[in-house]
Amino acid sequence: MDHNQKNIKWQSVGVTKEMRQKLHGHKSFVLWFTGLSGSGKSTIASEVEHLLYDRGLSTVLLDGDNVRHGLCQDLLFSEEDRKENIRRLGEVAKLFVESGVIVLVAAISPIEEDRQAVRKKLGLNEFIEVYVDCSLSECENRDPKGLYKKVRDGLITDFTGISNPYEIPAYSEIVLQTEKKNAAECTNEVLEYLILNGYIH
Ligand code: ADX
Repeated sequence: MDHNQKNIKWQSVGVTKEMRQKLHGHKSFVLWFTGLSGSGKSTIASEVEHLLYDRGLSTVLLDGDNVRHGLCQDLLFSEEDRKENIRRLGEVAKLFVESGVIVLVAAISPIEEDRQAVRKKLGLNEFIEVYVDCSLSECENRDPKGLYKKVRDGLITDFTGISNPYEIPAYSEIVLQTEKKNAAECTNEVLEYLILNGYIH
């Protein structure tokens, strides 16, 4: 059913994104962190957010684990549920971009098509994909939440990288090698990218 059949028309807004960006004093965009569980997405996204906050910028962090406690509490880890999870994160991220805020999303987001769909929803240069690159064996060694052990013990099924796929991004604006560099170095790489490309000063 299309929107006309549902009698829903898009409402144009009086206060524009550009006006809100001016109010905040900076551009709004999405930093989308993708990678295996345990690769370092949440840690780095959170450290980047702190640095942006210290610079006086308005941010919001949407972390997969946290969003699954509320907005996405009805979703599990099947292919369809993950697709819906990423779609919702993308829609919320877009709303925040409209409101003039810098959005950081940390979610495994394992499927290229789903990540691309979010990219398409956003404007040109509003979606910065950050691939948090870390081998499965290293993620499993770190096992910060003890989940890999549970998977090996047969207590969790449908786990990304083991019984479910993780599609390495075809193209990401930023690739962070968290096996070779520590969190502070990776965080700085993100900041440098934002400065060099005119997102922040
Ligand atoms: S996504 O695939 O839909 O993007 P999301 O980032 O929201 O996943 O949630 C992943 C988090 O849920 C992991 O960091 C982990 O803590 C937890 N989790 C629980 N079960 C699974 C599973 N089967 N596969 C992946 N992550 C899981």
